[in-house]
Amino acid sequence: MIPFVDLKAQYESIRSEIEPAVLAVLESTQFVLGPAVAGFEARFAEYVTSERALGVNSGTSALHLALLAAGVGRGDEVITTPMTFIATVSAIDYCGATPVFVDIDPETLTMDPAAIEARITDRTKAILPVHLHGLSADLDPMVEIADRRGLILIEDAAQAHGAEYRGRRVGSIGSIGCFSFYPGKNLGAYGEGGAVTTDNAEYARIISMLRDWGSERRYHHELKGYNYRMEGVQGAVLGVKMDHIERWTEARRAHAARYDERLGELGYRTPIAPADRRHVYHVYAIRHSRRDELQGFLGDRGIATGIHYPIPVHLQVAFAELGHGRGDFPLSEAAADEVLSLPMFPEMTIEQQDEVVAALAEWATTKGAQ
Ligand SMILES: Cc1ncc(COP(=O)(O)O)c(C=O)c1O
Repeated sequence: MIPFVDLKAQYESIRSEIEPAVLAVLESTQFVLGPAVAGFEARFAEYVTSERALGVNSGTSALHLALLAAGVGRGDEVITTPMTFIATVSAIDYCGATPVFVDIDPETLTMDPAAIEARITDRTKAILPVHLHGLSADLDPMVEIADRRGLILIEDAAQAHGAEYRGRRVGSIGSIGCFSFYPGKNLGAYGEGGAVTTDNAEYARIISMLRDWGSERRYHHELKGYNYRMEGVQGAVLGVKMDHIERWTEARRAHAARYDERLGELGYRTPIAPADRRHVYHVYAIRHSRRDELQGFLGDRGIATGIHYPIPVHLQVAFAELGHGRGDFPLSEAAADEVLSLPMFPEMTIEQQDEVVAALAEWATTKGAQ
């Protein structure tokens, strides 16, 4: 069996550092926020090259608080991509705002900046691109549009820890960045976790209050807030992992380069990484016209794969109220029909990767690589 990700292999490799760090939190009884979270926040802010990072209890909470800090509320509109995990769009909905979709660039699968302006109305408040699969969206034109039209740019960097755009780290380019530390993410907690990054002291102050019931002083509530605080144990785990994130990212990139070369030779459509961006390969997704059949074939050979994502958000039943149908965002729909995520995790061995490539070689000779 080749797993899709192997969290156990990673745990074994850092067990000797993780266990004392977690035990120290238990002994301190600082279970919520506290010094382990503060220590992690400082390191993560430095990593993202942001002034501030605020630990929260999920990537979804990070998005929700970022939108609230940006002033997004009832009746507002937020421009985003349908080719994402549903959390991006749900966070907009939590604010009482309406998600307004634009289609993707068919090469990178990230939001197409050229399609944004036509969707801006006088109710638009923010633009929310997603760095899908670990590849930065094309941010410079979005920053330009946001500045010119008075909108706030929020980056959904849940899948893109350490990704770069034109030499800058994602999460530091828009006004606010949002990260997830769900266990399978490139930087994963041992439970739920997330962070908001920003250079703006006022946004940081609001977000730090909103995550903790709208208060700076216990039992004095200035804002209607939430219980979105990061747990101490997660801060300790993530703090340990900061020592390894760059090494793990480079391992992912080396695996991706090898897949690119071997699968490219076989004629597969491998993921595109423009030269001005550092892709961190949270997901390594090829495209195939007979994707479901290919997934079944690999499964029969013990190779686990994933689909990120099979249904674009505008076609999800949960968002039927938006009134979209098939054909509204055809590039996202085509991608959703064709993407197939191959095993990708830092600890993947050459032998494991060779097995994946061998199975794909067999498929290509009988059924074709496209
Ligand atoms: C693009 C994207 N946005 C938001 C989220 C939400 O993060 P979380 O699961 O930590 O709430 C995820 C991950 O699950 C994601 O992939």
